[in-house]
Amino acid sequence: MNKKSYNIAVLPGDGTGPEVVREGVKVLDAAASKYGFTLNYTHYDFGGARYLATGEVLPDSAIEELKKLDAIFLGAIGHPEVKPGILEKGILLRLRFELDQYINLRPVKLYPGVETPLKGKGPQDIDYVVVRENTGGLYTGVGGFSMKGTEHEIAVQSMVYSRHQVERCLRYAFEYTRKRNKTKTLALCGKTNVLTYVYDLWERAFHEIGQKDYPDIKREYYHVDATCMWMVKNPEWFDVIVTGNMFGDIITDLGAITQGGMGIAAGGNINPDGVSMFEPIGGSAPKYTGKNVINPLASICCGSMMLQHLGEEKAADAIEKAVMDVTATKLKSLGAGKMGYSTTEVGDLVAERV
Ligand code: IPM
Ligand code: MN
Repeated sequence: MNKKSYNIAVLPGDGTGPEVVREGVKVLDAAASKYGFTLNYTHYDFGGARYLATGEVLPDSAIEELKKLDAIFLGAIGHPEVKPGILEKGILLRLRFELDQYINLRPVKLYPGVETPLKGKGPQDIDYVVVRENTGGLYTGVGGFSMKGTEHEIAVQSMVYSRHQVERCLRYAFEYTRKRNKTKTLALCGKTNVLTYVYDLWERAFHEIGQKDYPDIKREYYHVDATCMWMVKNPEWFDVIVTGNMFGDIITDLGAITQGGMGIAAGGNINPDGVSMFEPIGGSAPKYTGKNVINPLASICCGSMMLQHLGEEKAADAIEKAVMDVTATKLKSLGAGKMGYSTTEVGDLVAERV
């Protein structure tokens, strides 16, 4: 892309979202001025507060507007006074689906100075990326109730995958593994011993595509339960993991905690041919809202991922290096209220270093 001026939608969202996004934007601006490009922001106030005030979750017109921008920078979605599911489905999942962001890219990387709950493991051991399929599987909402409210009630929620969905996700993962150029190993995480239709499709496609078009990439297969075990015991085995939507959701929370938790874990909802959206994996953390104690590093790392995606690689690397320096030499902990600095100060520390 690399076109020196980018139009970015900023969706701060709920809870601590606006606080972390402010620091993310601060660091993005520092990177933009250092590396000579411009970021033009358009703010959108979608989230719980707007929904409670107006009843509107996400107007169709907003989706059309967002489709014309270069990227979306999101804070957090989720409000304690709104029933679970309304905002998540109405904003986050709807954007992922309508913008066809079929990849959820979630790096699991332990930065220097950050404590991990994994005994005896350091930054050299925890450095891999999860490619989570982001528009299919159990998230399609295919299913329903029958005889609801009776003792014979049935509830069905189907794991739906087309060959097309599986294939485009696998191809992205193979390409990513090649480009990352670490151990060139792609691990498929599935459950072929029980989900004998869906993960059979994944596994066949994985080997067919790999054999034919990516002979330079080593292929491994793990069941999802075993994946969890090895992510804890031998995270150094992994380079890139590819998996379906639900498994990807679950294992990336596990991954996040091994890299220091929700304060640092970033992700990107990617449409390789369209508009992508970058968001911290953690939620809106209502209890810390407005206290200037939340850790903004996840949002700042999202900024780095966004610039990487836009083709501003030098600026992206500079942000990541600055974050590493701050974790290595400054922060006492990554936990909210335990950093030894406020939210805004952490943003300043990173921005100065960029
Ligand atoms: C995530 C979140 C979402 C998901 C929720 C909020 C719908 O947990 O981004 O991982 O399940 O994808
Ligand atoms: Mn999740």
